[in-house]
Amino acid sequence: MFESLQAKAIAIIRTTFGIQNVNIAWERPAQADFGDLATPVAMQLAKELKQNPKMIAQTLAEKLAQDSSVEKAEVAGSGYVNVWLKPQALIDELKKTREACTARVTRKEAPVIVEYSQPNVAKPLGIHHILSTVIGQTITNFYRHAGHPVIAWNYMGDWGTQFGKLAVAFERWGKGKKVTSCSIEELLALYVRFHDEAEADPTLEEDARKTFVKLEQGYSEIRAFWSDVVGITKSSLTHLYERLHVHFDCDISESFYEDKMAPILAEGKKKSIFVPGEKGALIVQFSEESKLPPALVQKADEGTLYATRDLANLRYRIDTHQPKEILYVVDVAQMLYFQQLFAIATLLQWELPALEHVVVGRMRFFDKKMSTRKGNILRLEEVLDEAVKRAGDLIKSRGDSIQSDDPEALAEMMGVGSVVYGILSQNRMSELVFDWDRMLSFEGNSAPYLQYTHARARSVLRKADAKGDASLPTNVASLTTSERSLVGGLLRFPGALEEAQKGHLPHVLTHYLYQLCQLFNAFYNNDPILQAPESQKTFRLALTALTATVLKCGAELLTLRVPDRM
Ligand code: ARG
Repeated sequence: MFESLQAKAIAIIRTTFGIQNVNIAWERPAQADFGDLATPVAMQLAKELKQNPKMIAQTLAEKLAQDSSVEKAEVAGSGYVNVWLKPQALIDELKKTREACTARVTRKEAPVIVEYSQPNVAKPLGIHHILSTVIGQTITNFYRHAGHPVIAWNYMGDWGTQFGKLAVAFERWGKGKKVTSCSIEELLALYVRFHDEAEADPTLEEDARKTFVKLEQGYSEIRAFWSDVVGITKSSLTHLYERLHVHFDCDISESFYEDKMAPILAEGKKKSIFVPGEKGALIVQFSEESKLPPALVQKADEGTLYATRDLANLRYRIDTHQPKEILYVVDVAQMLYFQQLFAIATLLQWELPALEHVVVGRMRFFDKKMSTRKGNILRLEEVLDEAVKRAGDLIKSRGDSIQSDDPEALAEMMGVGSVVYGILSQNRMSELVFDWDRMLSFEGNSAPYLQYTHARARSVLRKADAKGDASLPTNVASLTTSERSLVGGLLRFPGALEEAQKGHLPHVLTHYLYQLCQLFNAFYNNDPILQAPESQKTFRLALTALTATVLKCGAELLTLRVPDRM
């Protein structure tokens, strides 16, 4: 029906205004006063035709009103056309919402590489690492759901001077323990101690640098140490990623590119893109218009760099996977770095896929205690545990109003979900605020509210003994206000999902789900479902089932889980 309305509008514009090709944008207004569909096309035409937009809108509205799917059409503002559709036309359109809940079949095409999480080895995951981790996983889920082949890539920082530092610390203060018997916390403590002591004793830094050179040169003892530390870190991450519903297809990390940089350095020199800088270092200079400062690709002591590894990484990805797009989900602090990286690849005249630094903002704590903790990083695992504990307390304090067969599993789902949702519900490009109260609220834009609403819908369906997807009726002549609003909300799902996916913006989806929860809860409070007359009851149950399906699908795309009972 929507297509037929679109065709009708195009035909009207052709015959009445003589314009052959017009791009008609339709919006689905969130406010009921603006109809089910609205278009600003009259204002666009007014410019072309040099006519009054209101007159054009008036003509368009009158003619559209004659369409069999239209209830009424009105002009609003300075030339908007608002269209109200007949109830059944709206309901028929809901099948698109249902379709949008199923992942498309994966197309046979070049993959998208999404790189995220990228923790640095030998350190536990700090709370800020959750940003790239869950935002990257959500973007991956969006792409997969839309049918794009994706390679989810964890490019860990498993190479670099931190190993020199850790090795020195381990030798001095490791009490002769075996590395493999150390926990990640013990390794971190050693690393922190190195930094503390290096302030007073600068020879430590020099030792660390030399040790790292040995690692680069392949000395077997330090190499074995390195490999043990990498192993310990990776296994400490497994459980954490599981809790977050995060999965990777590939974890080729920085160290892999150790022997793949020489050809790139040679290529850059040959093409005169890498030129000598101070004391024999190699640098890249960019055009004046680009305003980019020079980038270093080789140190004076011939040591390799993060940037050089990233070039080798890019080359490898292009050669091995021929991706159509690579997304780097990384902190805003590396903005300039990625501009330089992409500019170098362009200067080298590589045939490049689309490259994007998906910027992730900084994290700020609402809770002062958290931000002022010095000398130690706040571990992600600790934060998740705390959230689960708080969720557990909340469940207990609510007494009978929360029911669960497995309160522990529910607390885990709610606690972890709160932290994740708290992040995903903010625009990733802004500063991301960490606020317990907001995250765990049962009323606001939060995981518990979403989970609770889903459970409420499931509970209605359970009581009605309705099976999963009750079919939608074909003979609805009128809708109550709450029904109509809920239908409108459900109809907005495909568009919201597409906007979130195209812009790599998880908060567009959380925002949508929050609104849908509000619409469903208003419907639940205003219109009796189980007590309604039979035909109405069937319809209301179908709306309830579709709401539950959308909430679950949306939540899972956001890496969350929703309970059936709560
Ligand atoms: N491990 C790096 C860090 O923590 C981030 C890696 C980003 N990705 C990349 N291809 N450079 O700073």
